[in-house]
Amino acid sequence: MSSDHRGAKVVTRRGLLHGFAGAAAASSLPVFPIPALAQGARFKVGFMLPYTGTLAKLGQSIDNGFRLYVEQKGGRLGGRQVAFAQVDDESKPETVPDNMSRLIGRDKVDVVVGSVHSGVAMAMVKVARDTRAMLIIPNAGANDATGLLCAPNIFRTSFSNWQPNFPMGKVMYEAGHRNVATVTWRYTAGQEMVGGFKEGFSKMGGKIVEDLVLPFPEVEFQALITRLTTLKPDAVFAFFAGGGAVRFVKDYEAAGLKRSIPLYGPGFLTDGTIEAQGPAADGIRTTLHYADNLDNPANKAFLAAFKKRVGQEGNIYAVQGFDTAALLDIGLGATGGDWAARDAVITAMEGAKIDSPRGPLSFSRAHNPIQNIYLREARKGRNALVSIAQEAVTDPALGCRLGA
Ligand code: PHB
Repeated sequence: MSSDHRGAKVVTRRGLLHGFAGAAAASSLPVFPIPALAQGARFKVGFMLPYTGTLAKLGQSIDNGFRLYVEQKGGRLGGRQVAFAQVDDESKPETVPDNMSRLIGRDKVDVVVGSVHSGVAMAMVKVARDTRAMLIIPNAGANDATGLLCAPNIFRTSFSNWQPNFPMGKVMYEAGHRNVATVTWRYTAGQEMVGGFKEGFSKMGGKIVEDLVLPFPEVEFQALITRLTTLKPDAVFAFFAGGGAVRFVKDYEAAGLKRSIPLYGPGFLTDGTIEAQGPAADGIRTTLHYADNLDNPANKAFLAAFKKRVGQEGNIYAVQGFDTAALLDIGLGATGGDWAARDAVITAMEGAKIDSPRGPLSFSRAHNPIQNIYLREARKGRNALVSIAQEAVTDPALGCRLGA
C-alpha cells in the first residue's frame, strides 16, 4: 500500500509500471521513463454552460464564480492544479450528446460541470448515468436529477425546482392573496417551479385562477399580460430567468400591472437581472436560497472579491459556481488529490459542510443542497433580505434510493 493516500487503481498502475521497468532492466529492453502519475497531472474541469442565448449571463456568472474560487486557492483544487475545457450548450438539450462526448472523450475531463437549463441537465444526467462520469449541476433544478434519477456520481450545488418555490405558497397566502395566476415558460423548470409553488399555496387553502405558459425562450409577453389584466387575480407568480426575466418584469411594469396585481416568483426573476430591470423590479418579492445583503462574513468576502475580479455585482449563479468549486475542493482534498479514489471522494462530498455566501450548505442523501430559503424584496438594484421563509429546506427527492 502506498503512503501517499492513493486509491487501489493508481497503486496497481504504479505496481505495473515498476514491474515493467524491472522486467525491462532484467532484459535488454530499453527502460522508458515512468509517465507522470495521475496525481501530478492537472485536474480537468469541463464546463457545459450556456454562453449564448437568453441564459448566457447566468452561465457566465457560474463560470466566473467557479474560477474565482480556484484563483483564491492558487489555481488548485484539493492541492491539484486545475485546467479547464468549456462548451456552449446554448440551452438546447439536443446539443448534449455531442458536447458530452467532446468533454469526456476528446478533452478527457475529470468532472463535468453543467448546466443552467433543466432540459439540458436531464440529458446530461442520462449520459452521466450511462458513462459514470462525475457530474456536478451548478444550477438547473430538474427535480428528477436528485430524485428518480439520482446517482452516486451526480451532485447538485444549486436547488431542486421544488425547493425555493414550495415556501412561496405560505408567503403569498400570508400576504393575503387567495386567487393567484401563474405564468412561465413551457418546459421542465417552468412546470416544476409552478408545481412547487402550487403545492405550498394549495396546502394553505389558496386557489389558482389560471396557469399561463409560452414556449422557452420566447419573450412575446403581450398576450399573456392582456390575459392577466382580464383575469384580475390577487397576485401573479412568475418564473422567467436571464434575458426573458428582464423583459417580462419591464413589460409587466410598462402595462401598469405592478401596482394593481403584485408580482412574485422564485428569485431567478430578479437575480442576475436586477441591474438591467432597473426601477421596474422595485417591490417584487421573491424566494430563493440567497439574498444580496446576507449578513455573513463569507457573503461579504465573496461579493467584494467577485466585484474586484469580474467588475460586476455577484448573484446566486456566481455563488453556485463558487460553491461547486468548494465542493470539488473538499472531495479532492480528502484523498490528497486522488480523483481515482472515487468512493472516498464521494463520501467526502456527501459529508461536506460549506460556509457558503448563501449561509450553511450541506447535502441530502440524494446529493441535493439542504439550505435556507429567504424571502427577498427588490429595492434599488438589490435583492434585499426580508426574512427566512423556511429554514434548512430539503427536497423530498421522490424516487431516489441513494442512502436509503
Ligand atoms: C432551469 O431550467 O432549471 C433554470 C433555468 C434558469 C434559472 C433557474 C432554473 O434561473
